Amino acid sequence: MSSPLDTGQTTDRPHLTDQSHADARAVEALLFTRPSAPRIDHHLLGGQAVYDLDRQAGNTLVRAVPGIRDMVRARRAFVTRCARRFAEEGLDQFLDLGCGLPTGHDVHHVVHAVDPAARVLYVDHDPIVLQHAWAHLSGPGVEVVTADVRDTRLLLAALHDEGMLDLRRPVAVLLAGVLDFVADHELPAVLTGLRKSLAPGSRLALTHLCADRLTTAEATALTEVHARTQTPLRPRGRTAIGALFTGFVLDEPGLVELYPWGPDEGVWPVANSFVLGGLATLRHPA
Ligand SMILES: C[S@@+](CC[C@H](N)C(=O)[O-])C[C@H]1O[C@@H](n2cnc3c(N)ncnc32)[C@H](O)[C@@H]1O
Repeated sequence: MSSPLDTGQTTDRPHLTDQSHADARAVEALLFTRPSAPRIDHHLLGGQAVYDLDRQAGNTLVRAVPGIRDMVRARRAFVTRCARRFAEEGLDQFLDLGCGLPTGHDVHHVVHAVDPAARVLYVDHDPIVLQHAWAHLSGPGVEVVTADVRDTRLLLAALHDEGMLDLRRPVAVLLAGVLDFVADHELPAVLTGLRKSLAPGSRLALTHLCADRLTTAEATALTEVHARTQTPLRPRGRTAIGALFTGFVLDEPGLVELYPWGPDEGVWPVANSFVLGGLATLRHPA
C-alpha cells in the first residue's frame, strides 16, 4: 500500500519551493488570497503566525460572536488537559488529529512532562500549519504527519505500518475542533475508522461547535466567515455531536460545556458556551 503520510522528514515533503513556479503561484494564490480556519483560530488565541486576511476574518467573528476568544482558549485548554489526563492514565501513544498551529503549550509538552517516553503524532492537512509544525513541534517521540483525517482507517493503518503507532495497544486520540469541518457524508469514515482500527481501551477527546447554543446571527457569522476559507464550517446540534461517540463510553459528566473540565489549568469565564466536549473510552466489542 502506498503511504498517505508525509512526516516532513523525507526529501519529497511538499514544500512550496519544490513546486514548479506555476504550481507555486497557484498554491500561493490559494493560500494567501483567502483566510484559513487554523490561522483565524490562531489569531483568536493571540498568535502572530497569521496574515491580514485572517486577522480581518477573526475580528469579524469577535464582533459577531461574543465570547469566541474564550471558547477557543477553552478548547485549547481542554486539549492539553485531556492529553495530560490520558498520559496520567498510562497511555503512551497520542494522535492529535487536526492539530492546528503550534501554541508553545502543545500536546507533547504536557504528555512528556508525565511520560518522556510517550509518542506524540501531530496530523493536519493545512500546508501552513504543517510548515510551522515541522519547525516548532519536534523532539524525541514527536512526529508531524501530513494527512487528511477523513479516512482514519487508511491513516491509522499507514501509521501502524510505518511503525509510528502500535494499533494492538490503546491510543489516545484528540479530535478537537476538527469534525466541525467534515461534511455529514464524510463523518462515518472518520468514526468507523477509529472504532474499527483502534484497540479497545483507546481514549478519545472530542469537541464540536454546538449549533443549538448559537443565535441565528452568530451561526450565520461563523458559517459566512468560514465560507471564505477552503474549509466550510458545519455546526451541529447536541444530538448529532453525541452520536459521534457511538461505540465509545463517555466519561462522567458526559458531553458538556468545556469549562467544567477541571480548574487545574484555569477556567475561562465563558458566559455562553457553544462548544461541547467529551472524553470517552473505546469499548470492547460485545
Ligand atoms: C479549529 S483548528 C483546531 C486545532 C486544535 N485541534 C485545537 O483544538 O486547538 C482545526 C484544525 O483541523 C485541521 N483540519 C480540518 N479538516 C481537516 C482534515 N480533513 N484533515 C486534517 N486536518 C484537518 C485544520 O487544518 C486545523 O488545523
